[in-house]
Amino acid sequence: MLSDPVKILITGADGQSGSAIVRLAEADAFFSVVALSRKLLDVTQPAKIVEALDKHLPDYVINCAGLNSADRAERDPQRAMLLNAEAARNLAVACGDLSIPLIQLSTDYVFDGHYASGYTEEDDTRPLGAYGESKLSGEEYVRQLLPQHIILRTSWLFSDRGDNFMLRLLSEAREHALMYAVDDRRGCPTSSFDLARVILAIIKQLSCGAEAWGTYHYCGAEVTTRYGFSEAVIAAARQYEDLKVDSIQPVASKDYVTEAQRPATSVLKCGKVLNAFGIRQRPWRLELQRLIRDYYGQVRL
Ligand SMILES: NC(=O)c1ccc[n+]([C@@H]2O[C@H](COP(=O)([O-])OP(=O)(O)OC[C@H]3O[C@@H](n4cnc5c(N)ncnc54)[C@H](OP(=O)(O)O)[C@@H]3O)[C@@H](O)[C@H]2O)c1
Repeated sequence: MLSDPVKILITGADGQSGSAIVRLAEADAFFSVVALSRKLLDVTQPAKIVEALDKHLPDYVINCAGLNSADRAERDPQRAMLLNAEAARNLAVACGDLSIPLIQLSTDYVFDGHYASGYTEEDDTRPLGAYGESKLSGEEYVRQLLPQHIILRTSWLFSDRGDNFMLRLLSEAREHALMYAVDDRRGCPTSSFDLARVILAIIKQLSCGAEAWGTYHYCGAEVTTRYGFSEAVIAAARQYEDLKVDSIQPVASKDYVTEAQRPATSVLKCGKVLNAFGIRQRPWRLELQRLIRDYYGQVRL
């Protein structure tokens, strides 16, 4: 290695996306990694953020902390605002004081889901609930307070750890012979590892002088529904486990009531990240196969 590694500080480092970034970056000599879980850095406490940045002096901060359940946010909108908006502001202020760029993760839920063809970064935002509102406020703070930012919106994250749709589905499929999945909401699943690869690729280019700050979309390739994704997960898992489920029934979202309203189409168009950084969408089905294989490598049935 000719120069010093680029130091990245990750908040919420035990979560789905945070832990994927940590695992990939620790295996890459380009980076040195400061992984801060909630226990090590509470992003709702501005003084603790300043202390952590002063101590570690990272080249980049990646904010993976937050409250990411739309239903929980609906039950407790103040907490959603604290974790998704105020914390982003705290980080943007502290990063600004030390001229450290911030990578802020965001979500398809900033849109209302009425554009059947999908959303570009320039489309109008209109969140349907407390989660999307809190994430949008977080975006706005970062944009206003810190010119050197990347806001990366993604959708339907899945991983071999943490609380996510893929793992919840596998638990259900062990318990029930009949399952239901919504078939009229469209979106793109995204592996937390693909998201991590994209973030690290962007940082590499920024570190080499690319001046491409701003808002971007990245999600896995191929639009599907929760029903389509469920079928793919169960088919992949059946290679390793004799699951109890023998039928998944498609249902309309009006018959599958949740606390939070969800966008009908949350397809993120990803042309901007391709044009600015040369990053292409990867098919989520490839990563699904790999993650299921790794998951069954880790668990004892
Ligand atoms: N999950 C999705 O489907 C999805 C979709 C689109 C966009 N995104 C975006 O992607 C980002 C990351 O999502 P994710 O799925 O990786 O989330 P996650 O797995 O829920 O991880 C969030 C992490 O934040 C931590 N955290 C909570 N409160 C904190 C605090 N006060 N200080 C520091 N850390 C705190 C959590 O720790 P504890 O577990 O200890 O509370 C957890 O480790 C979010 O910005 C989200 O909006 C997610």
